[in-house]
Order: sequence, then structure tokens, then C-alpha cells
Amino acid sequence: MPSIIFRPLDKSIPIHGPSNLLDLARSYDIPLKSTCGGKKICGKCKIIIEDSDAPLPAPSEHEIETFGDLTQKGYRLACETVLTERAIVRIPEESQSGRQVILTSGTHHPYPARLIPKVESYYVEVPPPVLVPLICDRERLANALAEAYGIKRLRIDPFALRKLPRALRSGHKGIFAVIRDRKELVDLHADGEKELLGMAFDIGTTTVVGYLMDLNSGEEISVQSALNPQISFGDDVISRISFCQDSPEGLDKLRASIVACLNQLIAAASAEAGIDPARIMEITVAGNTAMHHLFAGLDPRYLAMAPYPPVLQAAEDFKAKELGLNVAPSAYVHLLPLKAGFVGSDTIASILATGIHKSTIETLLIDLGTNGEIVLGNRDRLLCCSTAAGPAFEGGHIRFGMRAAAGAIERVNIDPVTFKVRVKTIHGERARGLCGSGIISAVAEMIRTGIISDKGGFNRGLATPRLRKGKYGSEFVLVSSSMTDVGEDITITEKDVSQLQMAKAAVYAGASLLNELGGRKKIERILLAGAGGNYVDPLDACTIDLFPGYKTATLTGVGNAAIHGACLALLNRNKRKEAERIARKMAYQELAALPRFQELFVENMVFKQAGGV
Ligand code: FES
Repeated sequence: MPSIIFRPLDKSIPIHGPSNLLDLARSYDIPLKSTCGGKKICGKCKIIIEDSDAPLPAPSEHEIETFGDLTQKGYRLACETVLTERAIVRIPEESQSGRQVILTSGTHHPYPARLIPKVESYYVEVPPPVLVPLICDRERLANALAEAYGIKRLRIDPFALRKLPRALRSGHKGIFAVIRDRKELVDLHADGEKELLGMAFDIGTTTVVGYLMDLNSGEEISVQSALNPQISFGDDVISRISFCQDSPEGLDKLRASIVACLNQLIAAASAEAGIDPARIMEITVAGNTAMHHLFAGLDPRYLAMAPYPPVLQAAEDFKAKELGLNVAPSAYVHLLPLKAGFVGSDTIASILATGIHKSTIETLLIDLGTNGEIVLGNRDRLLCCSTAAGPAFEGGHIRFGMRAAAGAIERVNIDPVTFKVRVKTIHGERARGLCGSGIISAVAEMIRTGIISDKGGFNRGLATPRLRKGKYGSEFVLVSSSMTDVGEDITITEKDVSQLQMAKAAVYAGASLLNELGGRKKIERILLAGAGGNYVDPLDACTIDLFPGYKTATLTGVGNAAIHGACLALLNRNKRKEAERIARKMAYQELAALPRFQELFVENMVFKQAGGV
């Protein structure tokens, strides 16, 4: 049987008839970029066919446009290439969806002083059975718990029920009953009290983070993270939703891939902590609405159609085994509440973690991403919206854009006289591209040094060879090819700048509109959430006019606030009710419905800090 060998992993995959290379890579978890989800638009799924038993398929027009003469050397796009015979296919560095710098913490968020987990352990002594009256094991346990703790009408999960007869006859004086919410017995231990463990997850479009926690002490036992494997079905939520629309098995495939990812994190955390994953008794999950639906197996297609209704908004509990998670068979998964199609439980968890809903300080909370979620307000009222900023903040639709992985340029410094450029890359590796903070930094520096005008065009009058006409229009060379890891100059094009202009105008307009709707109160504090928030330099954000209020407000990166919110909900059941109250309190504003948003968007396309040309 012929097979395709993917390099550099040297993974050999047998094929049965014509096989699309992107589909193969997805099926076998081969890290290959596909920003557009295989729609033949993004050009990021570049591969090189190094050897083949059959003549190579003729390149498409798109491939010729993307690679030119390189098509003769085997350069193709994986989503456009179908092979039927043995071949060796190399995935070049820039097409590998490598390990991302994942923000697992970065900012201290206080956990609640009172730990009130949903599951608790109760010591109980159950009298042995007697002939008259004969009372079954279950009843004797229920009676003992009612007498000792006033717990009545107790349900018993079959997993715990099966352990009951042995536990009662183990020779110990009493047993420890693990009870959820004083309503359901979920586990039993006869041989001493075991620590109660839980896990909190933040399922992001790009990254997934999981915290293994001790529910009795509130201690973090292990922190794990991974790239969301659904990336091979598209970088953004819209691509993944459309994959579900286009393919009958789309939802099942995406669900299976995120469940496998969570199970991997559970296994890794358990191995690090030296525990059996079957001891994890409770899980909380935050995520944007599309990730929530894909994990729960809820059809996400209506999220992409006005008025973008989610299938549900309230918090929901599922048995972990129903969702396919490898933890205690009786454990529950609590999905935090959602607000709208594009304001999910991650935003609510971020509010919970940052305490905006209890503060008197007028706060603007922004999560910079493809759908930038924005919250404005304080304890009196909370307004929220989501802006379709596009993928520029995550490196998407930028000529040399990439995610925040090793080799990504995160800071740029330009000499205002010589235009000499210094860049800082993640892990100090040779430059491979620009991540979101790098793009913001580069454009901000180009504004400050007069290279970019207020309208976003380049100042062609400047005497520097770095400014030139390239294949993709006017461009400014940041790093020359000899210093990069991609074999060509890394540049910023005018088109890249206009992508960033649209993204920042969307965020600025969304935040300004909420401010207008909220009575134009003075914004006292700006909190930037998410990875972008921690790495974006405040000065750069101000230079490109990323949001209103920066002249008067304090600006703080709050890291991955959503995972901290999910941890709070894991450790303290009252925080789940608080999250529901936050969701009810939030007033959601659909921006597309307001002409004023369009006006503000157009007004804020300019870089106000830049000069005209
Ligand atoms: S062009 Fe192939 S995945 Fe986008």
C-alpha cells in the first residue's frame, strides 16, 4: 500500500486511493498551518513534495501565483494537493503550527479566601446490617448521612454504588463519602480521606490551558497547556463553524479533537502530580461561545447567522463521561454561562477574576483577538460587545504574520535617523515572522519614525533602501534574509498596515461606542486580557490608538484572566452563581446593528499620532 511520508517528523501514513494532503495531516495530527481551514485562500499550508512515485499534479493558478517557479521544485499548497502514490512531503518551518507561547499565568489573581468546592468529603460511620429489620447498604448509608449531616434525598452515582458493599465491609470504622452539592454521592473511600482534585480549563480558539487543583487547599498542582488541535480545521471560529456547515461529520471531528486535547492535558497533569486521573472529581470550563459549543457537541452553525444565537446561555453541568473525558466516571463538567454568540464564558470568567462587577472604578476590559471582546463598566452596569477585528492581532492575514511561537518578532526598534532596525524575537531565535505584539510594535515604531503616515501609507520620500516596491506592493524591510530563518527578507507591507488599521479601528470603535452608550464616563482603568494583553507594550498601543481613554486611564495586562475565573468557579461553588449574575447583568450590544459603529470605525482608521505625507 503506498504511503505519504511527512518530514521533518518522518511520519509515514498509508493511503487508500486519492488523498488530500491537508486532510491527511489533520487526521494524523501532523502540525500543519491552515489559517483559512482549507478554503484555498490563505496560502499558509505550504508543503514541498521532495519525491514522488508518480508525476506531480499540475499546480493550480493559486499555487502558481503563490510560488511562481518554485512549483517546479515541488512547492504546493496542502489543501490543493491530492496524491495517489508514495511521496515524501516536507512541511517547511513556516508552515508548521509549532508550539505557541501559551499564557498560563502571568498575573496574580487572588483565589477566594473561602474554599467551597462543589464536591466535599464527609466521614460517616454506617451501622452493620442486622436480620431484623433488614436494611440494604444504600439505605443504611443514606440514613447515616442524614443523621450526621442532615443530607437528605441523596442520589448515588452507579460508580459509587458499585464501590459501596466493599467499602462498608473493609474493616474500617467509617468511610469517606464524596458528595456533590449535598445531593449526589459521587465516590467513596474506606481507607482514609483522599484529597479532592478538580481541573479548570480555558478553551481558547488558539490555545487550551488546564489547571489541576486541590479542592481542599486551593493549591495549583499542575498547569498544562496545548495548542488547540482544531487549528488544522481553521485558525478562527468562523472557519471552524463553516467546516461544520460544509461537512456532515464536521462537528464530530472538531469535538473529538478538542476532547482528545483535554484528555491529553488531564493525562499530563496527572502524570506530573503522580495521581490517577480517576481521582479528578470536578471540572470547570470557560471558553468562547463557539469553543463551548464544539466541546459540548452543540451545533455551532447558527452562531454565524444573524442574530447569532447560542444554543444555550445558562451554565450547564454534564457528566464527564458523557463528554468523553478520562477522569472519575462520576465526575461532572461545569460549563460556565455564555452571554451571546460572540461573548462567551471566557469573558464572564475574566470579569469574575478581575472583579470589575464589584468595583466602583470605570473599567474597560479588552481581550484582543479575532473577535475582540470588550466590556465596559463597573458594579453599577456592564456593557459588552464583540468586534470582528479580524486575525491581524494573532498574525493572521499579515504577509509574515505568525502565532506567538519561537522566532516570532515581538518587539521592533527603529533608529529615527538611520532607520536601522533591531528586533526582539521569542526565545531569541532567528526571526521567522511577526506575532501580534510584533506587528503592533513595528507599526507603532514606523509611525514614530515617520515611515507611516496618518492614513497608513508609507512615506516614499524617505531615503532608505529598506523602503521598496516588492511583489506585494510597497514594503519596509525589518530583517534581511541572511538574518532570518525563512530564507527571505521579513517585511511589513502597506497591506499589512491596512489589516492592522482595520483591526484597531474595530476595537477602538467598539470601545468608544460602549462608552457613548454608557454616558461617556471617564475610563479610569484599562485591562488587557489574553496573551496579546500581556505582551503589547502600552506605549505602542497608545501610538496606534488601539482604544479610547488611554490618556487618562491606567493600563494593565491581566494575563489569561479567563482561566483564573474558571479556577474560581472550581474552588468556590458560590462563584458559579456569581458568574450567572454577571451574565444577567451584562448588557450585550450588537455592533453591526448600529450605524454609529460604522461612523466610529471609519473615523478611527487613521493613526492620529502620525503625521500626514
Ligand atoms: S490555502 Fe490551504 S489552508 Fe489556506
